[in-house]
This record gives sequence, structure tokens and C-alpha cells, in this order.
Amino acid sequence: MTAGVVLAGGKGVRMKSSLLKLFHKLLGKPIIQYVLENISKLNLDKVILVIPPEEEKNFREIGKDNVIYVFQEKPLGSGDALKKAMPELDGFDTVLVVNGDAPLITDTVFKGLLNSYKDGISAVVLSTVLDDPMHYGRVVKDKDGNVIKIVEAKDASLKEREIREVNTGAYCFSVKDLKLVIDKLDNNNAQGEYYITQLVEILNSMGKKVISHQTDLGSLALGINSRSDLALATKRLLEQKMEELMNEGVTIVSPENTYIEPDVKIGKDTVIEPFSVLKGNTVIGKECTIGPSTYLLNASIGDNCDVFYSVVKNSKIESNVKIGPFAHIRDEAHIKSYSAIGDFVEVKKSIIGSYTKAMHLAYLGDAEIGERVNIGAGTITCNYDGKTKHKTTIEDEAFIGSHTCLRAPIRVGKGAITGAGAVVLKDVEPGTTVVGVPARPIERKPKEEGGKSE
Ligand code: UD1
Ligand code: CA
Repeated sequence: MTAGVVLAGGKGVRMKSSLLKLFHKLLGKPIIQYVLENISKLNLDKVILVIPPEEEKNFREIGKDNVIYVFQEKPLGSGDALKKAMPELDGFDTVLVVNGDAPLITDTVFKGLLNSYKDGISAVVLSTVLDDPMHYGRVVKDKDGNVIKIVEAKDASLKEREIREVNTGAYCFSVKDLKLVIDKLDNNNAQGEYYITQLVEILNSMGKKVISHQTDLGSLALGINSRSDLALATKRLLEQKMEELMNEGVTIVSPENTYIEPDVKIGKDTVIEPFSVLKGNTVIGKECTIGPSTYLLNASIGDNCDVFYSVVKNSKIESNVKIGPFAHIRDEAHIKSYSAIGDFVEVKKSIIGSYTKAMHLAYLGDAEIGERVNIGAGTITCNYDGKTKHKTTIEDEAFIGSHTCLRAPIRVGKGAITGAGAVVLKDVEPGTTVVGVPARPIERKPKEEGGKSE
């Protein structure tokens, strides 16, 4: 049986932040969430997360209920953190131990590490080779290629510092052997911390064998310690995501000027124009043009849509819809197919029917608008009376004249017309025309028809 231990007890002082390092967001998701997601793909028998007790609530908010929390009261070092998890390892044969600050080590790489563990070995260290090994722990080997120690850069001799194979901070241990050595750690080192890496030397001193498993992830495998590491990881993940999308048939006109979070999905032949930001669980269909300069957060967009210089948040847009420039669609708005929302139109928590148009300068909030309705420039749904929000209903083929104010709750009937500048306080009967302030019915000229959607 194999357990996993994620070390998340450190403070991360190099971040210079009042927020715990592991909660800093990398492409919209906390660093620690990546690690937990990658580990959960391994289906280990148990996952233990070592955390500072005062951060328990914040860790639980990330919503990984299937992990066991273990507290490290004081950040005495990665070795001390692992020690805190030991009581949870009874009955397990092997344990995968992972730094909580390495979000880019994939489940495939962890699998490779676990697979290279075999009987007769006490531990496997996941390592990678860097051109510049910087401040990482050096993997020191004997002539047979066994790992005899890991030496932290601050404690390394000049010769050891030249070693380019570094420790990624992921390990697989025999639980039996780990129990023999975990209490032998000391803190006689440059940082005065209990280093997990010292275990390698102690195991060797007891005649045990430690090997390394190299990944070609290079600097991707390494932990995020500072804001510049975070920016670098962001850059790498973005490059990966863009590459993936382009391979699937999405055009990204200027990848270096585009931001797309990992969970975003985009259909074939969609074009992403520069300066677009696509976040959260956004899903975009086929053959759309998104951007330039469009912000989508948890947006669901159908096929063949055009979203130009606009913002769409937590909303659904069906197929063949034109949005923008400068539209703001938010809070569970639902824009149905073949409709168009133009410049400086804000749509909040509203349903816009098919073939309906709101092309200029309008606020549509808490409204249910039918099909083939024309919303004139400057239309406002006055949905808020200072205390509560009220609903506006506009039925199919209505024609709302420019600068109409609709005081909610209100209903404009099918095919009804409101004149320019009308302030509508009462429901408008289907097929009637109202004008003025406050709006009142007038007789319709025989040829007059609602629903001219221009
Ligand atoms: C660590 C390794 C180093 C390796 C590097 C890879 C040690 C001593 N060194 O260095 O060999 O090259 O990762 O990125 O481990 N933690 C706790 N409690 C603590 C201190 C740390 O849980 O008291 C956790 C941290 O949250 C982090 C991990 O242990 O996830 C590693 O600690 P960190 O301080 O980041 O170690 P590095 O100096 O990066
Ligand atoms: Ca680190």
C-alpha cells in the first residue's frame, strides 16, 4: 500500500507576503491545488497534507476533503514536517513525499518515480538536471550511481556546487526504513532546519541504498519560492496551454499576448485575438472569434460567435451571437442564438431571446426578453427600488424605443412599442404603443408594426 504526503507546513518567507505561499494563485488556482490534483490522479490509498494549524480553514476551503490533515506547529523544516506525518503511515509499505510548492510536476512524472522504486531500495529521489542548479539541493552520487547524499546549496562545498543534478523535492521511501531513520535528523546546517534531504545520508550510513529517478522537466519540476518563480511558472504553464490548444486546431494570433487558464476549453477553428484573458471554466465552441481584448470568466460560448472587446462573466451565450464592442455580460445572463449585444450594453442576470438586438448603451438587469425584440439605444430596466430587485419581462417582437425607462416589476406585451424617451410605469398590453412620461397608450397607425430589429 502506498500513501502520499504533501509538505505544506512552511511559511514561504521568500514570497514576502501575508498570504501563505501555497495559496498564491498560479493561473487562477492556488499553487497547492495543482499539487493535490496531480497527486489525486495517482489514486493512492491515503493522502496526508502537513500544514500549519492556523491555516487549516484556508486549506479546507480548497475543497480537498479526501486528504488527512496533519499539523506542524512550527516550521522547523521539511524533515520535521514529514516526521509529523509518520503516525499516519502505519500499515503502509511505501510513501510518496512531495513538496507542496511544486505545481508543475505531473502525475505521469510521479508515476515514473513510484515505478522506479523496487525491493531492496530504501528511497528514490526525483531529480532533474539544470544548466544552472542555483539554490537547489545537489544530488551527490557514488561511482555506481547510487545517491549518497543530498546537500543543500548553502551547505555545499565548491565542488558539490558544481553538480548539476538537483533534488526536485519529491521522493519515494520505504516506510519501514523511514521509521528507522526519521528520528535521527538534526538541524546542524546553514539554516538550522530539519532537512528531509538529510535522510539520504542517514540511510546510507546504515548501509541502505538510495537511487535517483531523473525527470526531464528541468526547471518546471522545481518549487515556487518567490514572486519571480511564480511568474516563471505562469509563463511556462501558459506556453503549454497555448501549445495544446493550437495542436487541437485553435488559432491564437499572439500567444505571448494572451492569457488562458488551464481548465478553459476551446473548439476547432476558433480564433483568439490578442490581449484576451480567458479564465476559470470557460468553454468556447467552434469557429468563434474572441477578442481582441476580451475578458471571459466561467463563460460558456456556443459555436460561431464573435465576442469583440467585451467582458463576459459567469454567463451563457448560445451559438451565432455577436457581442461587443464594449459589452458587459454578467451574473448568469443567458444570451440565446442569433442575438446581438452591442457597445456599452450591460446585461445582468437576464435572458435575451433569439434574434433579439440591444445594440447601444443599455442596461438590462433581471429581465426576461423574448425573441426578435429590438432594444433601442439607452434603454434602462429600472430593476432596483432601493430595497429589492424586480423583474422586467419583454415579450416577443416588442420594440423598445430609444431611451426608454422600464420601471420594474413590469411587462411589455408581445409586439408592443414604447416611444423614444418613454418612462414606462405600468404594464404595456400586447400590440399597443405607449409614449411619454409617464408612458400612456396612443392609437397605432394602421401600418405600424413592432419587431423591426434594426
Ligand atoms: C527543498 C529541498 C531542496 C530542493 C528544493 C526543490 C529541503 C531541505 N530542500 O528546498 O533540496 O532542491 O526543495 O524545490 O527540503 N516545509 C514544511 N515545513 C517546514 C519547512 C518546509 O512543510 O518547516 C515544506 C514547504 O511548504 C515546501 C517544502 O517543505 O513545500 C520544501 O520547503 P522549502 O523551504 O521550499 O525548501 P527549499 O529551500 O525550496
Ligand atoms: Ca521550495
